[in-house]
This record gives sequence, C-alpha cells and structure tokens, in this order.
Amino acid sequence: MRILFLGDVVGRSGRAAVLETLPKLRERYRADFVVVNGENSAGGFGISEAIFNELLDAGADVVTTGNHVWDQREALVFIERHDRLLRPVNFPAGTPGRGAGLFKAANGMDVLVVNAQGRVFMADLDDPFRAVEQELSACGLKSGTDAILIDFHAEATSEKQAMAHFVDGRATAVIGTHTHVPTADEFVLNGGTAYISDAGMCGDFDSILGMDKEEPIARFLTKIHSRRFAPSMGEATVCGVAIEVDDATGLAKAIAPVRLGGRLSQVEPAFWLDPA
Ligand code: FE2
Repeated sequence: MRILFLGDVVGRSGRAAVLETLPKLRERYRADFVVVNGENSAGGFGISEAIFNELLDAGADVVTTGNHVWDQREALVFIERHDRLLRPVNFPAGTPGRGAGLFKAANGMDVLVVNAQGRVFMADLDDPFRAVEQELSACGLKSGTDAILIDFHAEATSEKQAMAHFVDGRATAVIGTHTHVPTADEFVLNGGTAYISDAGMCGDFDSILGMDKEEPIARFLTKIHSRRFAPSMGEATVCGVAIEVDDATGLAKAIAPVRLGGRLSQVEPAFWLDPA
C-alpha cells in the first residue's frame, strides 16, 4: 500500500498549491491513501468547513490538525459532522470531535489514523503516549487494521523521536508536524516504523513559518504586537512524505520526502516514480 502524507497547509498559497498538486500526485504516485494536516489552512489559523471539503475533493482521505484546530470557531461544531477530520486525541475528555479513526484505502485495506499533540513547549494536554497506546491496543496492526499512521503534532524533536521509538514495530509510521520546517531524518526504525521529525509545511517558505516576515521580525525586535500575522502569498512548496507499506505486516518498507514547487529543493520519492 502507498500512503502519501502532506504537512501543515498554510493559508491561501499553501491551499492553492495543494488543491492544484494533490490530484496529480495521487494519480502519478498511485497513492492508496492520503492524509493532509490542515490546521493552518484558513488564513494561517485553523480550518473552515469549506476548506476541509476542498481538501477532501482534492484527494485527501483524512485531514489532521493540532493546536490551531479551534482557531476558526466553526470547527467546534462542524467537526462533529465529519469523521474524516481529526483533532489531537489527547485533548481533554469531552472535547468535540475525535482523535483517531479507521478508514478504507483505495486498495480496500484499512488504515487507522491517529492525531496526537506533544506537550513539550506546548499546552499541557493529556499524556500523548498513553493516549496513543490506548488507540493501538484497541486497534492493533493486523489484528484490527492493515496500517497505522500517527500524525504527532509537536514542537520538540526529542518528544517526536520518543513517540516513534515507543510505537516502533506497532505502527506503520510516525510523522511529525507543527514546526513547518521539513527535517532530513526520514528512515525506517529497527522495528519497521517509518519516521520523520517534521514533514514540513505546504506554504511559502519566503516567510517566517509561512507568515509575512515583517510582523514576526518586529515582534522579535520590539516585543510589541502591532498587527496580526498574515500568511505569506508567494508560491508554496508542497512538503510531505511518501510511505511504502509492506502489506503482509503493515510495517513500512520505505519512507521518502516530497517537496514540490516554491523555494525549496525539489524532491520526489524515487521508489514511486515509473522508470523513464
Ligand atoms: Fe501547530
């Protein structure tokens, strides 16, 4: 099975790039299952129902989120209507929506997607490790599902690495999101779980984390908040990872980065490209 994951979509530029690129990528890679982190897709903050539906129409099977999930207040309501929109599983009990779900891939196999959020340099949520453990024990690899993808939305690379090693051999992949900067540490761990500390954003990299540069720089210089952050409108780089799943075990055979368009160096997963 082939799983494509795209990192945090930031604002209009990120959205436009994903809506334009994802249908082509889905076809070119013959992806069976696609997950997109959409938590910054509405003006850089949160997600609207209209944008969520656009991401599904473009080829996402599931949209994950993180700490900005409620920035558009309508998400508190519409998330209850959509199984394919996830918020972090370790939010307090009683929070609207859900943090995990079992979905059908295009090849007929089942994929459990879990969205969790880190606690280091972030809000003091429930323990993400125990929350993930609970999902894995309720629906294990090959006992309950054919693949398990964990979007771990976290700030600290240590916490992300710890999560990956914690579930190594029990999940197909742990994909880090939230920092918006792609890391170069993608590999398959000893137990067979694919990992990357951060998939990177789908947004304009001529920016500060996808936002116009002026206000963040001014805040660093003066500590004065003058304006709201506004998403940067230059051409976005679509960042993500490709995961080749061993259908017999549900573990990962390979992971490789995807970076297309915009300012970053361009890379595609060689193992999914047809030989010219
Ligand atoms: Fe985030």
